[in-house]
Amino acid sequence: MAGKTAKVIAVDREGQEHEIEGTIGWSVMEVVREAGLPIEAACGGCCACATCHVYVDEAFLAKLDEPDPDENMMLDEAFEVQDNSRLSCQIKLSEELDGIRVTLAPEF
Ligand code: FES
Repeated sequence: MAGKTAKVIAVDREGQEHEIEGTIGWSVMEVVREAGLPIEAACGGCCACATCHVYVDEAFLAKLDEPDPDENMMLDEAFEVQDNSRLSCQIKLSEELDGIRVTLAPEF
């Protein structure tokens, strides 16, 4: 039986929107990468690279858990950080996050 899914709207670096059906319990990084979008995620989701940096739509920002100290440390070293910057490997897809909209941060 397939797992439950929730929608992720990912905006790529060309401004193109992708509507992706993601499995609940996966990280947003895994969902976006599985869909073939260019998210590097060099560390594979261990919160150690910041190449899964995304900007989270304001409407969903408040629904996320606060970043843990490791995530904040990585974000400190990331480029082009904004108030709504998060590491997508640390966002776990849930029913509550259905429709979450994220924009891939620029690559360096
Ligand atoms: S994949 Fe490396 S910090 Fe998210």
